[in-house]
Amino acid sequence: MAATEHTQVKTIEEFAHQPEEYKDAVRKIVRSHAINELYGAQVFDEPAIALAPTPYAKWLTCRVAMEEYGHHVRFKELGEQIGVPEEQLVYRPGGAKRPLSIFDFPLKTWEEFCVTKLIGDLAEILQVEDLLHCTFHPLRNLARMTMPEERFHAQFGEDFCTDLMEAKGGRAEVQAALDKVFPSMPAFFGRPGSKNNEMFRRWGIKLRTNEEMREDYIRRARDLVEGKLGLELPDVTPQAA
Ligand SMILES: [Fe+2]
Ligand SMILES: [Fe+2]
Repeated sequence: MAATEHTQVKTIEEFAHQPEEYKDAVRKIVRSHAINELYGAQVFDEPAIALAPTPYAKWLTCRVAMEEYGHHVRFKELGEQIGVPEEQLVYRPGGAKRPLSIFDFPLKTWEEFCVTKLIGDLAEILQVEDLLHCTFHPLRNLARMTMPEERFHAQFGEDFCTDLMEAKGGRAEVQAALDKVFPSMPAFFGRPGSKNNEMFRRWGIKLRTNEEMREDYIRRARDLVEGKLGLELPDVTPQAA
């Protein structure tokens, strides 16, 4: 379904005059991005600075952490502008808003972090791509702004995984990290037949179904991991958990 079939909502002002369902749908997406960007930065990117093995790696990891916190800040600002209560835009332990389950594994090693950037940020890239033609232009613009940074994070993952694999025993360590991290990734794309996803597409906020995105993700992850890096992508059933 082309986004051109839908009304384009160019400003926050115009947003205020949209049907309730449209406003709810946009708020849901912005809220989920604000929370997941914050939680990811807290549990992965910031702790990874301490795990980074060299000053150069620490420098680039700081940049990644800075940008992920930045994504949270921008999504939170947008959320506030469209009437989402502040407490729904931040993650607090035990709070009402839970981040996605993919963030549930505790990050222990530098290898796990590099693999998380390699394939976790590929998943983020797909999510952001899906918003590039969103009918709500402030959200589309935010997606366009964050995209080069998400690409940098995935490239960071690829570059450091490549470095790690050149060291003795490194290939097996990266493969082990991949075996640990990858299986929870496909669930990032949500449940098949999701009502929310159907609503997002009906309003031209998102373009693709969860199933289409998950299949595309697994295909692109396989090209990257097997085609480019010569590792093995763990077998996963293409279903949400
Ligand atoms: Fe991000
Ligand atoms: Fe990222």
